[in-house]
Amino acid sequence: MDFMETYFAPMEGVTDHIYRRVHSRYFPGAGRYFTPFLSPTKDHVFPPRLLRQVAPENNRGVSVVPQLLTKSPVDFLWAAGQLADMGYGEIDLNAGCSSGTVTAKGKGAGLLADRDSLRRLLDGIFAACPVRVSVKTRLGVRDTAEFPAILDIYNDYPLSQLIVHARTREEQYGGSAHLDAFAQAVERSRAPVCYNGDVRSAADMAALQARFPSLGAVMIGRGLVSRPWLAGNMPDRQTLRQFHQALCEAY
Ligand SMILES: Cc1cc2nc3c(=O)[nH]c(=O)nc-3n(C[C@H](O)[C@H](O)[C@H](O)COP(=O)(O)O)c2cc1C
Repeated sequence: MDFMETYFAPMEGVTDHIYRRVHSRYFPGAGRYFTPFLSPTKDHVFPPRLLRQVAPENNRGVSVVPQLLTKSPVDFLWAAGQLADMGYGEIDLNAGCSSGTVTAKGKGAGLLADRDSLRRLLDGIFAACPVRVSVKTRLGVRDTAEFPAILDIYNDYPLSQLIVHARTREEQYGGSAHLDAFAQAVERSRAPVCYNGDVRSAADMAALQARFPSLGAVMIGRGLVSRPWLAGNMPDRQTLRQFHQALCEAY
């Protein structure tokens, strides 16, 4: 059994470049950090607030995957070109954001409600994207029964990875994650699969690995914020205190 890699989930308002840099210095176990979503603008300019997130000098020494939130292949490709020029080799597409203002525009998990739009986006992206592309998805909009058809779509494209937050859009963050529905991704996804949702302890990670021995990666958000050492070994009090001190000083 290979050991799973751990990724730090994108968390808007939490895992910005300052947090990522300090966290990776004290707790180097997370293999990759996904940025909170960046929305490419129609006029194709990265506002300074977004540029700060991805500027190479702000992310030195940290393995970062920028995440884009858009339904436009043109805007995705523009942003991907900019990010490739900065040295990024992989970009994540957000197909999971459940916020009403995002999904109403057909973005994030809204992409799962209009599968033609999802296909058009993926067609455009994979026709010309200069870097590898992963997708972070939910299981569906209302019902996990939507997932097989969504998985069929992803299987038509050479995704570098399929990251599955094992909930529907309507569930937002409530209830518990659907491991049975997620199992279909492990069985049928052409792309390597990463699990996401409710992993909060080493025991949760061990249970996940026991159930899915071939799973290569787990993405953790809230669990890593509350236990920043979760991707490695539990530190002593001194290290935790220094981590908090360093965070306060960095902000
Ligand atoms: C405050 C907050 C901000 C989030 N921001 C993003 C985001 O920018 N992009 C994204 O794909 N997911 C975002 N998520 C979802 C997380 O990445 C993750 O999928 C979700 O929290 C479930 O994983 P967890 O149980 O390990 O936290 C956010 C979640 C929270 C709680």
